[in-house]
This record gives sequence, structure tokens and C-alpha cells, in this order.
Amino acid sequence: MNVAILGVGTVGEQVVKILETNQKLISARAGKEIRPVIGVVRNTLKKRDIKMPITDDMETVLKRDDIDVYVELMGGIDRPYRIVSEILKRKKPVVTANKALLAYHRYELESLAGKTPFGYEASVAGGIPVIKSLREGLSANNIRSITGIMNGTCNYILTSMMKGGSGFDDALKKAQELGYAEADPAFDIGGFDAAHKLLILASIAYGVNAKPEEIIVEGIERINKADIFFANDFDYTIKLLGIAKKVNEEVELRVHPTLVLKDKMLSNVDGVMNAISVVGDAVGETMFYGAGAGGSATASAVISDLVDIARDINSPMLGYKSPLETTPIKLINPNDICTKYYIRLNVQDKLGVLAKITNLMSENNLSIDSFLQKPRISADTQSPATLFFTTHMAYEKDVSRVLGLLKEQEFIKSEPFMIRIEE
Ligand SMILES: NC(=O)c1ccc[n+]([C@@H]2O[C@H](COP(=O)([O-])OP(=O)(O)OC[C@H]3O[C@@H](n4cnc5c(N)ncnc54)[C@H](OP(=O)(O)O)[C@@H]3O)[C@@H](O)[C@H]2O)c1
Repeated sequence: MNVAILGVGTVGEQVVKILETNQKLISARAGKEIRPVIGVVRNTLKKRDIKMPITDDMETVLKRDDIDVYVELMGGIDRPYRIVSEILKRKKPVVTANKALLAYHRYELESLAGKTPFGYEASVAGGIPVIKSLREGLSANNIRSITGIMNGTCNYILTSMMKGGSGFDDALKKAQELGYAEADPAFDIGGFDAAHKLLILASIAYGVNAKPEEIIVEGIERINKADIFFANDFDYTIKLLGIAKKVNEEVELRVHPTLVLKDKMLSNVDGVMNAISVVGDAVGETMFYGAGAGGSATASAVISDLVDIARDINSPMLGYKSPLETTPIKLINPNDICTKYYIRLNVQDKLGVLAKITNLMSENNLSIDSFLQKPRISADTQSPATLFFTTHMAYEKDVSRVLGLLKEQEFIKSEPFMIRIEE
């Protein structure tokens, strides 16, 4: 089976190397040899540690009749969308690791592909075979929830803050030095990368075609040492979670920093590792753990799709879509999401402030579960006090309203901050 690799960077180069190194084993498992015959790049002069021929002439490679499968590993959205569409229109199979492309276009591409294989195992959680597990191993189940640590950069930063005592800026700098975070980290730390992955999983599990703009996406930029202090004191860790949860005939989708009890499995997933918990009505909780990124781990998933194509296995990616079309599952309006909340407030330390805050909360349907005032370190009695609250189950709309009202009070000294709690 002849394969063209469109994009021979971090992942593409590893795909070629693993296909070369493990050639006998992969051929035996696939039932035929999988040969990377041509790679397309932007800069053919760049030094690459592979034998496969390289070109920058994309159009010629797209027209070649001897290519059986195309692997898209370029990144971006618009250009790969045009290229992948063109290949699928010619009924040639495509494998991609491009989560951004899929977050916006997977339904069009799926429908364009029809019966032509279109694989994207590598687009979610790198080397962890979670898509295949959802499509195949868990196909007997109504999926109750998918909850995961889907971004290694955020998990590394939060682990350094929780366990190493670092502040956010130092943890991010260290992640950049180690190559775990991009020079421009906004996409990762803003939660957008995790959102793309969550949407792909939700489309497979629930048949919902949501776009990143339609769901709650919050990053980890505002987590500070006071939040870490609270989390440690109350036996929580803070994780950036992607959450898809079925509630009656609707599904809620959200990505945000989350307080997770320390005895939960996800709490103990540290550093750059990813983990995804999938709860099915028949199987109960299953947990998938492994490297969520990196050339070699991601290439492992890309090659698993190639092996499926070589074996002629082509269970549709949106395997749950057709039956769900008769009773389409709707996306819950983010305002109607109901969970527990942690609220941190910086306030002027004077008589009556606490009463005003608690009144405002109860007038707006927020019931307080716990309250803590951080001991003042500074001797300056004018310096603001930090107050922490957790709530019982509450609606997102009520919490947003309370935060908005608090922000306007003269005794509030900095923007109120909230973290959702998962128990
Ligand atoms: N890296 C990971 O750990 C990881 C994990 C999961 C998923 N992914 C996904 O995998 C894909 C590839 O990621 P990567 O990290 O391997 O990216 P990368 O290191 O930046 O490599 C991109 C490759 O595509 C080539 N390329 C880019 N634009 C092109 C164009 N217009 N025409 C021809 N070639 C072009 C580049 O050519 P030059 O070499 O000449 O620049 C390079 O070889 C992305 O969609 C990413 O989201 C990556």
C-alpha cells in the first residue's frame, strides 16, 4: 500500500521512521506492506532524518495514481480542508492527526468520504487509542460521560503549580524551555486545543455537531497561588478538563479548569500525560491513559489507522450518528449547566462585607457549601482579604449573574474568579 505523507514535521517524520523500523511487524499485522513513497513539505532544503523522497509540489502528488492513501500532517484548517476534500472526492482514503481541521469540518469531510476510509485516531490524545475504543470496544454502551485531561501543556503547568509550588508564569516558562509549550502558548493554555479534541469525541459518542464557539472554553491563565492553597487545603487538585456529559436527551460540553477531588484517578495524572475517563451505561467507568502528544506517540495512532485501511476495516467514524439522527441529541445551553462552584474574592477587609456577599449570593439562588478566609500574611490591615466559597449545585446563569454583580461592588478589589467543581 503506497502512502503519501503531506507534512513531514514532528509527527510525519516519526510516521516514516516507525514504518521503516517496524516494517516487518507492521506488514505482518496489516497483511501487506505499508510504504511511505513521497513526502510533501514547504522547505525541501530542511535537513530531515529519513530516506523517503521529499517534494514541495503538492498538486503533482495529489494527482498521482499510484498513491493508495494520503496522510495529512501539515496542520492548519483552510488549506488542509481544501486538500483533504479534493482527495476524498477522488475516493482515496485519508488519515489525519489534525484536530483543528476536524473540530470545524469533520461532518462535511465524513459525508464527503462516504464509504472511503477517513481516519483520525491521532487527533485526540495523541497515542491513546480512545477513538477506536469509543467506536468499537464501547459500541454496546450509551455513553454517559467523557471526562479528560486532553492537553499536556496545561497539565504540566498545573502539576508544577500544585506539586512544585511554582507560580503560573514560572511554570509556563519552564514548559516552554522543555518544549512542552509553544512560543505562543495561547491555543493550549486558553483551552482551545482541548476543546477541539472534546468536540471530536462528543461527535463520535453523541452525534453532536458543535463548534468551539458554542461551548464553554476557559483556560488556566487566571489560576493563582491562592487557588492552589485552597485546593490543597480542601483535598482537591486543579485540572483542565474537557467534559461531555449526557443529561436526559441533551449533552453538555465544556472545557475549563476544574477542582477534582484528590482521590479521583484523574487527579493523579501528572505532567504532560493525558487521561480520558469514559463512562458507559453497561461497562461503567473505563480509563485511558498515555502520552497525549509527541511525534512518536502520535505517529503510533496514525499508523494504526493505516493498518485498519490495509486490513479493509472501515467502521464509520461517526458510528453512532445514524441511529441518533432520529432522536438528535441537543447541546445544552451553557447557561443551563448545573454543577458546584468555587469562588475566590479579593475584598476590602471591613465589617459587613461578608454579610453583603452572602446576601447577594442567596438572593440569586447560590447556596454556600463552605467558606474560608485566607489568613493575612501582611501586617497591613488595609490590604485586601481573600475569601473562598464553594457552592452547592447551582446553575451557570446564576453564578455568572452573581459574579457580575460582585464585580460592581466597591469592596471588591479585583475581578472575582470562579472554578467549577467535579466530584
Ligand atoms: N506534534 C504533536 O505532538 C501532535 C500531536 C497530535 C496531533 N498533532 C497534529 O499533527 C499535525 C502535524 O503536527 P506537527 O507537530 O508534526 O507539525 P510540524 O512539525 O509543524 O510539521 C508540519 C509539516 O507540514 C509541512 N507543511 C506545513 N504547511 C505546508 C504547506 N502549505 N505545504 C506543504 N507542506 C506544509 C511542514 O513543512 P516544512 O517541514 O518544510 O516546514 C512540516 O513538514 C497537526 O495538525 C497537529 O495538530 C500533532
